[in-house]
Amino acid sequence: MNIDELIKSQTLEGKVAIVTGASRPNGQGRAISKALAVRGAKLVMTDLEGDDPRYNYEGLGVGSGEELAEAVDEVRALGTDAIGVTADITDKAQIGEVVDAALDAFGGIDILVNNAGSLHGHFIADTTDDMWDASYRVNLKGPVDFAAAVVPHMRERGGGSIVQNTSVAGLVAFAGGGCYSGTKHGAVGMMKVMAEEFGPDNIRVNAVCPGNVWTDISRREAELFTERGFAENPEAFVKMLESMASLPGRYAAPEDIAEAVAFLCTPGAKFITGTTLRVDGGISIVGA
Ligand SMILES: NC(=O)c1ccc[n+]([C@@H]2O[C@H](COP(=O)([O-])OP(=O)(O)OC[C@H]3O[C@@H](n4cnc5c(N)ncnc54)[C@H](O)[C@@H]3O)[C@@H](O)[C@H]2O)c1
Repeated sequence: MNIDELIKSQTLEGKVAIVTGASRPNGQGRAISKALAVRGAKLVMTDLEGDDPRYNYEGLGVGSGEELAEAVDEVRALGTDAIGVTADITDKAQIGEVVDAALDAFGGIDILVNNAGSLHGHFIADTTDDMWDASYRVNLKGPVDFAAAVVPHMRERGGGSIVQNTSVAGLVAFAGGGCYSGTKHGAVGMMKVMAEEFGPDNIRVNAVCPGNVWTDISRREAELFTERGFAENPEAFVKMLESMASLPGRYAAPEDIAEAVAFLCTPGAKFITGTTLRVDGGISIVGA
């Protein structure tokens, strides 16, 4: 490989990427959008229009049109083109609107990052039908519907890359997060099914599996677990979790996950499909 080929293998110049759940200031979606943008991709960033109570479980927070506009500005400031489109990924018609907006603005789609997720963390006995419903729709079915909507357009471009942001909770048990862990396991399974179905069209599908990431969800989680008696105060909970969060003893930063996602989208990853990439600071290799 000569130097020009080496540079080409790492650039996303000329590519168009859709990222879901892209608005929150400390979220992985915004960081992923920036990681794709600095590699040259044009961005279609999407998130919920407002504070939808079905997906804002116990105040963990969801995105908004206002935050999305701010996130789009941040990405444009990196020197690439970007648009924001609000949509609920559990609604196929709204997914269609995002796809149409991408085609109108940039003429095609090469990359989809299914980052949006919904965390409903409760023990099985306390899990309600609403929690199951939201988890299934946001973590499992919505991302597959989104993938199905972009695949015909990726075919037209001769291929593409789809990355599912799942979780190590989709690989190992997460007691107290049953329907989250269950639907993330399902998302890993559907990643493999999609990789097999879309592989002959040169469309790669992979999953990134983060451990604990320091986002607004993690901050709020510390408060909730304190209320449930797991720690004396949120700071003590964070300290306890930090020591167990990774082998280096810290939470991941959203940027740590974003770099892994961006790599999977580059031409250099052209022979990687159907795989799960753990970005968890090694913690999930440690047995009980
Ligand atoms: N924070 C962690 O520790 C952690 C760990 C492992 C995996 N994850 C996963 O990473 C992804 C990003 O989470 P984050 O921690 O950056 O939090 P985040 O709150 O920034 O991201 C979740 C996003 O999903 C969006 N969303 C929720 N329901 C939606 C719907 N119906 N339609 C459209 N968008 C919707 C929210 O508005 C929000 O922007 C999620 O899939 C999450 O499950 C997070």
